[in-house]
Amino acid sequence: MTAAERKALITDAVQGTHGTWADLGAGEGAFSAALASLLGPGSRIYVVDRDVQALRAQDRAFGGDFADCPVVKVEGDFTAALSLPPLDGILMANSLHYQADPCAVLSHVSRWLLPGGMLLIVEYDVTSGNPWVPYPVPAARLPALAECAGLTGFRIVASVPSRFHRRMYAATCRKRD
Ligand SMILES: C[S@@+](CC[C@H](N)C(=O)[O-])C[C@H]1O[C@@H](n2cnc3c(N)ncnc32)[C@H](O)[C@@H]1O
Repeated sequence: MTAAERKALITDAVQGTHGTWADLGAGEGAFSAALASLLGPGSRIYVVDRDVQALRAQDRAFGGDFADCPVVKVEGDFTAALSLPPLDGILMANSLHYQADPCAVLSHVSRWLLPGGMLLIVEYDVTSGNPWVPYPVPAARLPALAECAGLTGFRIVASVPSRFHRRMYAATCRKRD
């Protein structure tokens, strides 16, 4: 997947917004960079991952910050307690499919969102698990998951064909005001 494809996938969700975001399971920063390129001035991204090697690779690839968007690195497990500020948005790109209980995880992470804050999910639209996508989150399952986690206004914003996993989609929902 190219940087342009990643950016296109989340543009409709993010363009025209700004604020404090977290990228949970940011890995080497491929989607963090796309997010940073779309957020308006004055924004900041907390990039969270339990894999310190991935965060170091992110530093090597992008340097400290992304363009004009400051980044705060957080090494940790997003299913546990983390020191994060109240967030305008959370991105989870290909990290929810590692969670055996996605409702519990979404309920947990959505506590960091401000009222009206956005949860942006990027996932493969597959129904059967495999070693790369152990707990798939097909798009059809997300409305029920969002509701289970107390989130509202679910919508698919974009999708792109995937060579091995049918398609990758981006979807948003919001914490109730
Ligand atoms: C497939 S990679 C996706 C990386 C990036 N978001 C992307 O799409 O390019 C999944 C990342 O989520 C991280 N991850 C999975 N579960 C996690 C957890 N509970 N806490 C923190 N990081 C987690 C992994 O360490 C890995 O870097």
